[in-house]
Amino acid sequence: MRQSSLVVVANRLPIDDSVAPDGACEWRRSPGGLVSALLPLLRHTPATWVGWAGGTGPAPALPDVDGVRMHTVPLTADDLRDHYEGFANATLWPLYHDSVEQPEYHRSWWEAYQRVNQRFAEATADVAEPGAVVWVQDYHLQLVPGLLRELRPDLRIGFFLHVPFPPPELFMQLPRRAELLRGMLGADLIGFQRSQAAHNFAQLVAKVLDVPATDRRIAVDDRVVRIGAFPVSIDTAEMAALAARPDVADRAARLRHDLGSPEQVILSVDRMDYTKGIEQRLKAYSELIAHGHVKVRDTVLVQVAVPSRERVGQYQILRERVEREVGRINGEFGRVGEPAIHYLTQPFDRAELAALYRVADVMAVTPLRDGMNLVAKEYVAARVDDTGALLLSEFAGAAAELPQAYLVNPHDLEGLKQGLLAALRAGPDDLGARMRAMRAHLHRHDIRAWARSYLSALDDSGSLLTRLGAAG
Ligand code: ADP
Ligand code: G6P
Repeated sequence: MRQSSLVVVANRLPIDDSVAPDGACEWRRSPGGLVSALLPLLRHTPATWVGWAGGTGPAPALPDVDGVRMHTVPLTADDLRDHYEGFANATLWPLYHDSVEQPEYHRSWWEAYQRVNQRFAEATADVAEPGAVVWVQDYHLQLVPGLLRELRPDLRIGFFLHVPFPPPELFMQLPRRAELLRGMLGADLIGFQRSQAAHNFAQLVAKVLDVPATDRRIAVDDRVVRIGAFPVSIDTAEMAALAARPDVADRAARLRHDLGSPEQVILSVDRMDYTKGIEQRLKAYSELIAHGHVKVRDTVLVQVAVPSRERVGQYQILRERVEREVGRINGEFGRVGEPAIHYLTQPFDRAELAALYRVADVMAVTPLRDGMNLVAKEYVAARVDDTGALLLSEFAGAAAELPQAYLVNPHDLEGLKQGLLAALRAGPDDLGARMRAMRAHLHRHDIRAWARSYLSALDDSGSLLTRLGAAG
């Protein structure tokens, strides 16, 4: 077995098993913020990525992705149902997102979660060279740091949570709360998106495990576990360069023409997820049309909503409701050749996404709760001419870094409508000043700055940073 000095462990591999139109097997980039953040960072480093390829049955052998070795962990149909769709996405995901949908608790899901975490820990132990740095990602694998430490005490183990970590009054609902906290404490460094999350974690460790904890350090089993906030970011320069390409500019102009050359384009890009506030946004938009504040001929909304976790009941219900509402709004307010909403569920390549960002006068990012939201950051990075307005939920992690956005509370329908109108009506000088400030922030705080701050805290020798090319 070939071993690496840097191992990233995430439930998802960066490529997904999918079927081409001619029935052949092909690989394509996996959806979601975790892959968007880590893939550009690891490119051309001698790292191994341990993860799941998206199907069931024996693990397929995958090609390297941009020089990064893929090590596949297989899931059975039962694991998929009880670990991925169950404990990860119907217990932890809603619980960690303010319980905007009701979390479900089943003992068999917990057993599957333990079993799959054990499998990930064993696969990681096999591919990590002596003394390697292992970086475990996200809520699917919270037991891995502890299990891995038992198998391989020689490793330096980091854990990063991409989603929010909830306040004690919510987390305390979880039947196996103590085990989950103990699992995370197997790491040397636990990173969160926001300092509030680190604070919540420290409070819970003190309360549930009776271990003294501050928001920075926890002493456990003769070790010190450090915790802190490391807001994740994007490859800002890469997105800016893509958006500035002449073919992307041409594509944006073509898109605007195909949309009927409206005065203003509003864009939203989400995974189809109930945390993203899609229904609330549609309602706000339809009320603005109904009350004459927005005219369909002058303004269009492009809603991209790529299906996600499609076998989980709450996601199926959401998709039906969103599609019904889009149909209702188009039926009521659209005209032949002039829909009020252009609704797209396809995955796009990066250049097409950049063209969409370029064409959007207003980008509406209004999740009910979101760990970070990289779409908001991608939009800002793509606005290379400092035009455009970002409408952003206060409940997205990105809001803490982008105060120049039009910040809204997506639960407050009137506030959401006012925010959208303010963004649509803003003048170029105001927009330019806001966008310049946000772009400058993202050029300073890009994905390499994130890796630098996290990995220098995890690996004090600095050798890892040099290998990643993130030291500069
Ligand atoms: P989450 O991690 O919850 O999915 P983020 O906004 O942080 O939300 O990240 C979503 C990522 O997925 C972004 O990098 C975005 O560009 C990408 N993405 C979203 N929709 C699509 C799509 N239709 N096609 C391709 N990529 C998409
Ligand atoms: C969020 C999670 C990631 C996950 C992604 C896509 O970004 O934090 O861990 O990979 O959503 O979701 P999926 O269930 O398709 O992996």
